[in-house]
Amino acid sequence: MFAVYADRPSPDDPLAALVVGERPEPVAPEGWVSVRVKAASLNMHDLWTLRGVGIKPDQFPMILGCDGAGELADGSEVVLHSVITSPGWVGDETLDPRRTLLTEKHQGSFAELVTVPARNVLPKPAGLSFAEAACMGTAWLTAYRMLFVKSGLRPGQTMLVQGASGGVSTALIALGKAAGLRVWVTGRTEEKRAVATELGADAVFESGVRLPERVDGVFETVGKATWSHSMKSLKPGGIIVISGATSGDASAAELQRLFFLQLRVVGSTMGTRDELADLLAFCAQADIHPRIGSTLPLAEAETGMRDMLEGKTDGKIVFTR
Ligand SMILES: NC(=O)c1ccc[n+]([C@@H]2O[C@H](COP(=O)([O-])OP(=O)(O)OC[C@H]3O[C@@H](n4cnc5c(N)ncnc54)[C@H](OP(=O)(O)O)[C@@H]3O)[C@@H](O)[C@H]2O)c1
Repeated sequence: MFAVYADRPSPDDPLAALVVGERPEPVAPEGWVSVRVKAASLNMHDLWTLRGVGIKPDQFPMILGCDGAGELADGSEVVLHSVITSPGWVGDETLDPRRTLLTEKHQGSFAELVTVPARNVLPKPAGLSFAEAACMGTAWLTAYRMLFVKSGLRPGQTMLVQGASGGVSTALIALGKAAGLRVWVTGRTEEKRAVATELGADAVFESGVRLPERVDGVFETVGKATWSHSMKSLKPGGIIVISGATSGDASAAELQRLFFLQLRVVGSTMGTRDELADLLAFCAQADIHPRIGSTLPLAEAETGMRDMLEGKTDGKIVFTR
């Protein structure tokens, strides 16, 4: 079948490991289902996979794509939940020490077909297109958990999102706005800050500038490039929720500030099946649609990946079949 995959780890030149070609059709083991993929979205995770980060060398070749939406054999329309737990695991799927995300052990969704355990598909809401639904399983689910499960922020409080135009960032802005928070955003260029404004941000700032006042919570996926600013931007008792470190590890943890101002730093990864169901319901109830910057045929995946690699994002990048 047609598929977009990584044929080896390529740490310095991720696109050198990218192949647009053919892979064997997957066979669903007992208790699993085959999904005919209609759309899947690009995540930074796919670039990490091409670099060999978070995947063992013996797992290549690996079909990329860690979210998606499509159809089951009976024609029902579904959204993928891509956190796959070990057999018998009960409870929060993200806390299973042996959980994997699609593309870490099991083949991903940038293909005609993907197989997942039957519990890893949820009904696609009628109000979301396949392309929109494909954004939900990774970036949007991560943003949902960061904001509504981990941060403890309430409507009326102020949240700062580091980064304006990325998948997780745009989801945080849209969800925060819909939930009644005051949403402040940093962006690296005027163009990117304009994306945040269009999504409803209450104020936008150049990366690293001193804010007019300190905020209740900061949402981090950038790491090194923004960490110090995040720490300095918090009110006493404030919280940073972090789910990524795109620019690398922070050079200083700023421990004195952490204890003296009684700050909290909380990690967050993906979300549970129930949280994905709640996210889909929230999008339906509040008529929220993910911002999609470009929609490309899967055969042109390299173009989308190059854009992400070069930081040219305007919301999600989606591949369709
Ligand atoms: N833990 C999890 O479960 C989970 C899930 C999803 C994503 N993540 C992680 O979250 C991060 C973002 O993922 P994504 O898919 O949203 O990526 P993306 O769409 O490429 O977005 C990248 C974001 O990083 C921002 N950024 C700001 N300064 C940066 C710098 N110096 N270098 C690079 N980027 C900078 C960009 O802001 P501008 O708009 O200003 O350019 C943009 O908002 C990745 O590290 C990813 O691995 C983790």
